[in-house]
Amino acid sequence: MNIDVVVLAAGQGSRMKSDLPKVLHPIAGKPMLAHVLDTARSVKADAFHVVIGHGSEKVKSQFQDTNNIQWAMQLEQKGTGHAVMMALENLAASGVTLILYGDVPLIQANTLQALIELVSAKQMALLTVNMDDPSGYGRIVRDSKNLVTSIVEQKDASTAELTIQEVNTGIMAVPTEHLHTWLPQLSSDNAQGEYYLTDVIAMAVASGLTVETLQPEFAEETYGVNNRAQQAELERWYQARLVNEIMTQGVTVLDPARLDIRGNVSVGRDVVIDANVILEGKVELGDGVHIEANCIIKNSSIAAGTVVKAFSHIDQALISEACDIGPYARLRPGSQLENGAKVGNFCEVKKSVIGAGSKVNHLSYIGDATVGENVNIGAGTITCNYDGVNKFITQIGDGAFIGSNSSLVAPVVVGTGATVAAGSTITKAVEANKLAVARGKQVNLKWTRPTKA
Ligand code: UD1
Ligand code: CA
Repeated sequence: MNIDVVVLAAGQGSRMKSDLPKVLHPIAGKPMLAHVLDTARSVKADAFHVVIGHGSEKVKSQFQDTNNIQWAMQLEQKGTGHAVMMALENLAASGVTLILYGDVPLIQANTLQALIELVSAKQMALLTVNMDDPSGYGRIVRDSKNLVTSIVEQKDASTAELTIQEVNTGIMAVPTEHLHTWLPQLSSDNAQGEYYLTDVIAMAVASGLTVETLQPEFAEETYGVNNRAQQAELERWYQARLVNEIMTQGVTVLDPARLDIRGNVSVGRDVVIDANVILEGKVELGDGVHIEANCIIKNSSIAAGTVVKAFSHIDQALISEACDIGPYARLRPGSQLENGAKVGNFCEVKKSVIGAGSKVNHLSYIGDATVGENVNIGAGTITCNYDGVNKFITQIGDGAFIGSNSSLVAPVVVGTGATVAAGSTITKAVEANKLAVARGKQVNLKWTRPTKA
């Protein structure tokens, strides 16, 4: 059976007060529209039709690499029915059409699957919720046998209808062949002068179809985002779920309200995460990894037993077992730490390998370097990797010892077991096991210090 998904995303979102189209605003670091499309993808849809209008170029450019999207332009927003009409010519002749909203980001796959399964030649499906305060929403009107007969919008509703607490979420699944006949019959003869998608419900009933309703597992799945406060509310609800998920996998989270997950996190056993941590992109944390407070970890893999101390930033790094990082360490893209390596406070590492058991403990910059095993890099050591145009490589052999405050001017090689005296500026190769001293000689002069009058 063919499944078409239509996502309505043409609205301006004026209450966001933003230059960014509403559906591009993120939840958990991902545009709302991407949430909707990713979830819809899990129900094996054959085609995705996204109806865009306001900020359409920005929306399209964000999804350039996404396969399978057919964009439908709605130049003027004349209502939800009009919006679906813009995609109508691209829909299959038969099968099911699932209608979603680009600003209702957290709808779950199991809900959509259940909705689709309710559809047959003689039946369409509607996602509804019951609300204590239904104001603003379309009401679900039922007959004496409790069968749905229509949806009436707030502004068109009678006093009696306004008391109905079951409301339309807007999400529905419809036999596509009927949409082709119903949509062209919509009229804008109503309180808002709009083409209401909701009018297809009465048309379905008139054509002898039944309208099945389904309620979502969580009401939040159907919440729309119209302003920043609603966006924040959904963000918090979603974060609570993501954090709960990793806790069920055996992670200790010291304060679930102060961990944010913006991507996919995989965890081993007995991981501990302290307060104010942000995990972004694809993050892997091995058994027993301990992340102290205020760390940001992005697209990185951290193997078992490693400790990341407070205030460290880790981005696109590959960290082996039992490493010791931070506090205040910055590992930039391409950093690779072998087993037991240490990168301490106020150290920056970029595109470099730090070998097993090696230490970069204080105030250093290591960029474009290969550091062997059991190397000690003294405090304040800098690899001078950049001449303003080109980047050069520094190689440091196993067991080398770099004295504090040395500058290693790349390209340069420090041999195995070599020692660099503190304060040296190394510009040429240091042979294995030699001591390189490259600094001004100390002289002690006789001197009388001036005194104030
Ligand atoms: C709609 C439903 C209402 C339901 C409510 C749930 C209709 C007529 N009413 O009302 O029954 O309770 O949603 O939130 O369907 N959009 C377009 N083009 C348009 C109009 C809307 O793309 O011309 C998009 C909007 O960007 C938004 C969605 O459709 O994402 C819903 O539009 P909105 O104006 O919020 O619908 P409501 O009037 O609230
Ligand atoms: Ca709305």
